[in-house]
Amino acid sequence: MRKKITVVGAGNVGATLAQRVAERNYADVVLVDIIEGLPQGKALDILEAGPVIGYDSHVVGTNSYEETSDSDIVVITSGIARKPGMSRDDLVRTNQKIVTSVTEQVISASPNAILIPVTNPLDAMAQLVFKVSKLPRERVFGMAGVLDTARFRTFIAQELNVSVRDVQAYVLGGHGDTMIPLTRMTTVGGVPVAQLIAEPRLSEIVQRTRDGGAEIVNLLKSGSAYYAPSASVLDMIDAIMYDQQRILPASVYLTGEYGIHNLFVGVPVKMGANGITQVIELDLSDSERVALHHSADAVKELIEVMGI
Ligand code: NAI
Ligand code: 2OP
Repeated sequence: MRKKITVVGAGNVGATLAQRVAERNYADVVLVDIIEGLPQGKALDILEAGPVIGYDSHVVGTNSYEETSDSDIVVITSGIARKPGMSRDDLVRTNQKIVTSVTEQVISASPNAILIPVTNPLDAMAQLVFKVSKLPRERVFGMAGVLDTARFRTFIAQELNVSVRDVQAYVLGGHGDTMIPLTRMTTVGGVPVAQLIAEPRLSEIVQRTRDGGAEIVNLLKSGSAYYAPSASVLDMIDAIMYDQQRILPASVYLTGEYGIHNLFVGVPVKMGANGITQVIELDLSDSERVALHHSADAVKELIEVMGI
């Protein structure tokens, strides 16, 4: 039987992701939105690209959850996106209501799915999805670290005029201003980046990474990034679909790792067909550990705002 991947939210991230998944040809796609006609129209458009691109993925759009039943993976992108001048944290209350209702409906139709929240503020929404779905932590993890790391790798590759494929890096922490691009563990062709890019230029690149989402919001004027975000979710879906046991950064429920308890924060994990098979504990320096805890505190504040 073909696998089924549901994408909730047929906006910029959701629809672009649906297209990317359909093009993989490894699963059928259900696109859900509350706006009547929007998911149906976009799904039909993606379906009609099949003969040209060469995929047989069945793509359907809907305003209900019936057709999502027994999905293997559900990606939650429903919510409002950031507008210029708005922080990710401003989004919390509106998106809490949307994500709660979506998760309840998703889990009742697909109790065995792996859930990947994308809606912002990401780590808080991932914690919300985890609480509402009551799934084990292995099956609920948020996308942000792959995107933040991709931005960091892009800027380093640009700076050194090398292929992005040769830049290895991690960005840890919450998806917000406190994220931590780990320069000490970043290498280019195996060479530590600090030997290749001197301060203060490296710090500028770190800051640009932290501001990566806002940079695009300010350019677009309306809406936020979606090409790199949808590609980043696809990287995680590939890891699951192909049981790759990839080591990727994701927002996961920490139960004591890094000294953080009962909170979703971005750290490296091993990811395969059953979701997360291992939370990887890097040997952080004192200052990196302090920065990670500072970032975790920012997530905790949002959890308190939500009252969950
Ligand atoms: P968008 O505004 O283009 O799409 C959101 C869609 O959600 C809209 O079509 C809307 O009708 C739909 N929606 C709203 N309430 C719904 C409900 N109850 N049920 C079903 N659908 C509903 O926004 P975009 O650009 O696609 O971003 C989506 C979310 O993802 C935002 O919260 C954004 O901040 C976040 N995001 C997170 C990233 C990350 O790294 N975690 C990266 C990029 C975006
Ligand atoms: C981003 O980083 C808006 O969180 C989104 O682009």
